Amino acid sequence: MIPDLNDSVLDHIAIAVNSIDVAKKTYEDLGFTFSEEREVVKEQGVTTAFAKIDHTANIELLEPYGENGPIHKYLDKKGPGVHHLCFRVDDVKETCADLKKKGYILLNEEPVKGAHNCLVNFIHPKSTGGVLIEVSQAQGDH
Ligand code: CO
Repeated sequence: MIPDLNDSVLDHIAIAVNSIDVAKKTYEDLGFTFSEEREVVKEQGVTTAFAKIDHTANIELLEPYGENGPIHKYLDKKGPGVHHLCFRVDDVKETCADLKKKGYILLNEEPVKGAHNCLVNFIHPKSTGGVLIEVSQAQGDH
């Protein structure tokens, strides 16, 4: 019998960049291909671009959109670099309720809309040893 894999899969590794068009070259040189699609997530103050790593995981470049979003602040403070990891879960509300019970600090009381129309929430890096972790539930065709 094949052992059960964990329910969560890596959905994306998000990298904060000043410019998607400049930053994507590094990943293209490594063999990744970015979709032409650029999605603005106004709620998060970002423009995103995705490149597939394998059948579930992607590289997501995050470029600041608008003014004073979280990515602007991140770039000001830390400069470009790995911003968060995202794991896909079946039920983001259930996962977050469970995480809360275990003492983790979530950024949002309720899940919010992420890129690709996903429902997402974030675990504060304070409670994970310094890593911002997103949990995401796909909706519709994604
Ligand atoms: Co993300």
